[in-house]
Amino acid sequence: MRSGGAVRTYLAYAAGHLTLTLLSGVWLRASFLRPEVLGGLHFGDVLHAHSHVAFFGWTTPAIFALIAACLPAATRRDPWLGAHAHLVGVGSGAAFVGFMLSGYAPHTIALSTVHVVLWVTFALAAWAGLGGAGVVPRTFYRAALAFLVVAGAGAILPGVVLATGITDPWINQITLQAFLTPFISGWLLLGVMGGAYAVMSGGRYARPVLLLTVIGSLPSAFLHTSAAPPWEALLWAGRGGTVMLGVAALLLGADLLRVTRRFSLLRLAGVAALTKGVADLTVALGLATALLDVRNLSIAYLHLVLLAVVTPLLLLHALRVVPTGGRVVAFSGGVGVMLGALLLLGWPGGANMLTGLGLPPTSLLWLALAGAAVAAVAAITLLPTGRLFPDEGTGTHPEPAAPHRAAGSRVRIHAGITGRAGDVHSGAPDEGKAGTVRGR
Ligand code: HEM
Repeated sequence: MRSGGAVRTYLAYAAGHLTLTLLSGVWLRASFLRPEVLGGLHFGDVLHAHSHVAFFGWTTPAIFALIAACLPAATRRDPWLGAHAHLVGVGSGAAFVGFMLSGYAPHTIALSTVHVVLWVTFALAAWAGLGGAGVVPRTFYRAALAFLVVAGAGAILPGVVLATGITDPWINQITLQAFLTPFISGWLLLGVMGGAYAVMSGGRYARPVLLLTVIGSLPSAFLHTSAAPPWEALLWAGRGGTVMLGVAALLLGADLLRVTRRFSLLRLAGVAALTKGVADLTVALGLATALLDVRNLSIAYLHLVLLAVVTPLLLLHALRVVPTGGRVVAFSGGVGVMLGALLLLGWPGGANMLTGLGLPPTSLLWLALAGAAVAAVAAITLLPTGRLFPDEGTGTHPEPAAPHRAAGSRVRIHAGITGRAGDVHSGAPDEGKAGTVRGR
């Protein structure tokens, strides 16, 4: 296998599966208005296909690529890693088709178990190899891998509970969270934070962001159940964990926004991280407990994290797309419109307000669909600009290169995003004003 082959393989599959994630998301959104577009398939099965391809096929291989690029050249060139990348990619495609056609069934559950085994084997293989990476990506990536293993173990729990015949609603809900919380708050967020901080010289808060996320992630799960926990103390643990995640998101947002003043994918991720921080703190302080169970609001929150924080950071740091202004505006605007419409749909009185304005309640569904379609098209058209780690094989990316000054420019350029139109990483707050730098 060619040098860098495994990293490129992870990324090629990730790009393909991001396309499937976005298209299936728009398809699901359209089905709220015209159920017949599902063509006889069950909404729940398409939903599982969408969420599994997003987790197994898009986000996870993209973070594997970020981590694999930090491993020693010998590990990266090992044919085993190339085979692993193909197994993850093909397995994700199979999960997409399998869940769409038959939902949760013995073969899709078996396929999900294979994915968990692939995650654990990657974590075991990569752990030692990360020793040579710089301290920032190494600590984030190792923490992320630990959470991936915990999430993998958590994924088995619902099956165990089902087999033992337990029907307690809180136990059923918390066992679902045993996968979701470490996967999203631990694996995905720490993974993209590692990629971002590795190339960010102005990142002041890397350490507190890491610590708060590591400590707060698991306890935060106790706040994600609508059924009451057996002990009041668990609720307080959930509040404490969520406060930590909220503060971490605010600090991450502040760091991302300090990097550039230009309208960019980084800025979108920064604003979304700040919004997530505010939402976490609002819920943790008990100011919006009644809204926790509103489906449109929880879907809006989930996509705020996955579509507006995780996806832009992976597009930039893993796929290394070249974000041109128009497509960034279209993606950010589309995501904003979709999330805003979901927020209004779920907010008490939101639909009434619309009726008061003489608009039918379905207008918000149309708005969410339009925003989703614009965002999806913008992201998909960005993909061919991805550079798939051109310096792969040198072992340099995503190690942060020493900041240097471009001749005749006040803008400091860093490895990873060097010379990208619209996404210049600059260390000082005023440097973003210097505009686009084409460094290559
Ligand atoms: C244009 C982009 C997207 C659109 C239009 C979209 C749309 C949707 C829709 C309509 C649902 C079901 C909502 C419901 O049941 O009320 C959903 C669920 C979900 N989406 Fe997306 N999505 C998009 C992107 C993404 C991305 C990028 C990810 C992950 C990286 C993602 C992860 C998920 C997950 C995990 C669920 C399942 C939630 C649950 O079952 O509780 N989506 N999405």
